[in-house]
Amino acid sequence: MKILIQNAKIYQNSKLIKSDILIDRKRIAKIAPKLEVSADKVIDAAGACIFPGFIDLHAHLRDPGQTYKEDIVTGTKAAAHGGFTAICAMPNTEPVTDNIASVEYIQLRAKELGSSRVYVIGAMTKGSAGEEISEMATMKSGGIVAVSDDGKCVQNARLMLSCMRYASNFDIPLIIHAEDYNLAGKGQIHGGKVSTQVGLSGIPGLAEEVIIARDIMLAESSGAKLHIAHISTAKSLELVRQAKAKGIPVTCEVTPHHLVLTEEACVNFDTNTKMKPPLRSETDRKACVQALKDGLIDCIATDHAPHADFEKEKEFDYAPFGIIGLETAFPVLYKHLVQTKQISLACLVDALTCSPARVLNLPGGSLSEGSPADLTIIDLDKETVFTPQNILSKSKNSPWLNQSLPGTILWTICNGTITYQNQG
Ligand code: DOR
Ligand code: ZN
Repeated sequence: MKILIQNAKIYQNSKLIKSDILIDRKRIAKIAPKLEVSADKVIDAAGACIFPGFIDLHAHLRDPGQTYKEDIVTGTKAAAHGGFTAICAMPNTEPVTDNIASVEYIQLRAKELGSSRVYVIGAMTKGSAGEEISEMATMKSGGIVAVSDDGKCVQNARLMLSCMRYASNFDIPLIIHAEDYNLAGKGQIHGGKVSTQVGLSGIPGLAEEVIIARDIMLAESSGAKLHIAHISTAKSLELVRQAKAKGIPVTCEVTPHHLVLTEEACVNFDTNTKMKPPLRSETDRKACVQALKDGLIDCIATDHAPHADFEKEKEFDYAPFGIIGLETAFPVLYKHLVQTKQISLACLVDALTCSPARVLNLPGGSLSEGSPADLTIIDLDKETVFTPQNILSKSKNSPWLNQSLPGTILWTICNGTITYQNQG
């Protein structure tokens, strides 16, 4: 199938240039200012911009085991709705993705029924229980792109060192959810001003920082590739800055919510502001934005964490941690960071495309002739109200419900197939 996209501006080398694109089967065949060719489908994208398909290094698809929250079909539909053409599936499923059969299940289902590419992240320890190393090497031969115990954190430094030594032998990056359990305790929100005001127990920044400090030291000693998930405090960023300056192979990601929301969002006990790591102070948020601009933070990842209404509609202390994020990542960040001139459009787009591709060495992330036909067409000015009805995820746990957001995704094309088309 040939798809011709006309009259748009295309994002190449950090600039938007007026150009047409011809897609021939799975690849971008031609990019030129005016293409006069026949095609099976012509898309008039006048006024819109074409970006490389977004790549998310951190999504929870809940499949197998918790498919009432999400499954591979709905999770990848939500991805396409958000402009994503590739997502990495975290292994905290039921059972945990800690063996090759589980890896293959996700790969096969995604290939058959998915609306985006799905890369599998295998568990770092068996059952993510933090006691025994998983079969990383076998899973690597089955195609995993990294290992992680996300949602959990290996508390035993000796075991973590073994995981790093083992993983680095097979060139497998390790993604950490940095949380010291004793310091985090039963904390519900960031340990700071708001936790004191409203009387919720706090998770101090230290709970994240001590693990990051530990794992940077272990990475230095083992030579392992360390990627820090959802970094959230100014001090954590300082640790990464020092590590990078020393040449230790460490990268990190930040979520949209840590870039635009703070602990203040929790004052009304809205359980859609409850996640791990928690929303931090304004100082921390500003440090994250600055670090994204500086390139200290490598990329943006959603931490898409679907939970059902009946689970979130509970007293704050009893609701699970996590919010969905695939469908709002670009619109929310475009509105709150680009339109307010805190970061450039290029900074945002690169953090969602070429940068995550670089971190895990994934294909895609840029638009050029011959590259895979993974792209998203966005009307930056068009606003859409983000209602429960237009969410394609099975879960609706978002702090941005019913808000009007610019940066409406019009079409997403993955591997030469239209995976999302705006009906509005
Ligand atoms: O808020 C979160 N939810 N943080 C995590 O690390 C895990 C995730 C989940 O799986 O629900
Ligand atoms: Zn996590």
